[in-house]
Amino acid sequence: QEQPKSVIVIFGATGDLAKRKLFPSIYRLVQNNKIGENFAVVGVARRPWTNEEFRSNVTDSIQTSIKESKDLDEFTSHFHYHPFDVTNPSSYLELNDLLNKLDGTYQTEGNRIFYLAMAPEFFGTIAQNLKKEGLTATDGWSRLVIEKPFGHDLPSAQKLNQEIREAFNEDQIYRIDHYLGKEMVQNIEVIRFANALFEPLWNNRYISNIQVTSSEVLGVEDRGRYYEKSGALRDMVQNHMLQMVALLAMEPPIKLTTDEIRSEKVKVLRALRSVKDEDVSKYFIRGQYAGGKLGDKQLIGYREENNVEDTSQTETYVAGKLLIDNFRWAGVPFYIRTGKRMAAKSTKIVVQFKDIPMNLYYNKGETVPPNLLVIHIQPEEGITLQLNAKKDDEADYSKPVNLDLSNNFLEGINTPEAYEKLLYDCMRGDATNFTHWDEVALSWSYVDPISDAWKKGLAELTTYPSGSSGPDEADNMLKQDGFQWWPLG
Ligand code: BG6
Repeated sequence: QEQPKSVIVIFGATGDLAKRKLFPSIYRLVQNNKIGENFAVVGVARRPWTNEEFRSNVTDSIQTSIKESKDLDEFTSHFHYHPFDVTNPSSYLELNDLLNKLDGTYQTEGNRIFYLAMAPEFFGTIAQNLKKEGLTATDGWSRLVIEKPFGHDLPSAQKLNQEIREAFNEDQIYRIDHYLGKEMVQNIEVIRFANALFEPLWNNRYISNIQVTSSEVLGVEDRGRYYEKSGALRDMVQNHMLQMVALLAMEPPIKLTTDEIRSEKVKVLRALRSVKDEDVSKYFIRGQYAGGKLGDKQLIGYREENNVEDTSQTETYVAGKLLIDNFRWAGVPFYIRTGKRMAAKSTKIVVQFKDIPMNLYYNKGETVPPNLLVIHIQPEEGITLQLNAKKDDEADYSKPVNLDLSNNFLEGINTPEAYEKLLYDCMRGDATNFTHWDEVALSWSYVDPISDAWKKGLAELTTYPSGSSGPDEADNMLKQDGFQWWPLG
């Protein structure tokens, strides 16, 4: 495939995301020959850095995240820095001059990516100024990549969307949800639709429930200020968790095009049953981590973290029961849970199949467990199928056995990082793994009534010890339906 050509302008180039994810991703794209000579990166931020300072920051970032790094001087020579004031028009004009110059040097055919990796309050201003000052008027294409959060509720997301739509069309806007760049999240549709073994069973006749978990060991770290205004519902559920649910529940697309796939996901989000005030504590559990222990490590509670109020009501954990009111899924709960400071870092999906109608086989006096299909997203990547079989040397009739395609069943050991794939997709103009505005709007419409009900005090905020698997209330939610959470990790 032809290597894409572009100048990539990173707003917020002195920040954490650029350093941890973006620079290493660009480096890997070059190393893997996905992009060649025809690219330049322009770092834009307030700090008065020089090109040299910027390049040494890039070198640092790569040496920290990639063991065997080579050709760094050649690589960083493509990086340029431009000190910038987002509200000052002359800043944009100067930036445009630099971009025109680099376009000539690197032969990037007027193609430009504007990557907003910074505080969201400036997204609208920047997008509008880029257009007003002529930075998007080139012979090539211009694309806007935008990091979360995309608003903090539906009205604020609509406002932001209007602002950026004044300058960019929907098909020029690439809203990042980095979960969509994960190898095994992209695999959901392939596992479902490319296997005769699963496709016919993927509905309410054979599946009893689906569990989507994304647990973290980390606490809020130094993001207290952001997190206090966000909480787990906005930080993880509105985007990552709902995206995974949409991929698990969507109908097969008629073609593998961006529009077809997105429109199937949109239909799922439209079919989500909205949560009423009176049901909120039945369908959603919110928790906050208290102090606790993980191994020998003593951990502080959320309210003791920096920039967090001592009476904070912010949830660091959410478990929810989602119902999808359509033909395929009527009656099948989708349980989701996500939390910080839990016992393990684990993102996975467990599809639990219904019990067979009459079971003659026992395992240690109990009926055999249900079949499970587990899609491991991280840290392991792969799938496990839990089946029942007989073992000769056992007195019992049957026993659960695992058919494991875990770890590296995908070619190579180095599956590319999410950001690497997403950046490459954007350079090639493939928006499939980015969120369309309709998906953002519907996700907020689902989440807003829940956070409104919480604000009205209609559900308790429970606590859970750091290092645990979450509050008991979340276990009870499943117990009432006759189910249990399958273990973390
Ligand atoms: C981000 C959230 O979107 O996802 C973070 O803002 C969270 O709070 C992170 O830690 C989790 O991502 P991953 O890829 O580590 O599961």
